[in-house]
Amino acid sequence: MKVAIGADHGGYRLKEDIKSLLEDLGVDYKDFGTHSIESVDYPDVALPVAQSVADGLFDRGILICGTGIGIGIAANKVKGIRAALVHDTFSAHACREHNDANILTMGERVIGPGLARDIVTIWLATNFEGGRHERRVEKIMAIEK
Ligand code: RB5
Repeated sequence: MKVAIGADHGGYRLKEDIKSLLEDLGVDYKDFGTHSIESVDYPDVALPVAQSVADGLFDRGILICGTGIGIGIAANKVKGIRAALVHDTFSAHACREHNDANILTMGERVIGPGLARDIVTIWLATNFEGGRHERRVEKIMAIEK
């Protein structure tokens, strides 16, 4: 499993914490920045992460900003991306099982690192269920065409 990770200044600290979790889990990742708490624009981070996942260079992406909202809206503009904003453990597995979410977004100003770590652990370990959900995801992707 190869993961692309990125954050704006509002998510920088949580990104650093999630990187240490990925290391603990033995997950291969690339950090697309940002690399400090200096202000940056979240679409500038969302685009390269989302594009690299859409291009198949990475299996999944994790994006973090203050709320998880702006960076997720931006990521979802990239063809092939299904970014899910997740702040609870139920949604962490449901967005994989039902929606085949290929990018997870979280807000550093919304949840603490403990919950974020649980969310990431569950999200990475959960597979898409397929079946009836496959048809629905295909219909989402057909909207892009
Ligand atoms: C940055 O201040 C903040 O707007 C950003 O991190 C994010 O919350 C936007 O959705």
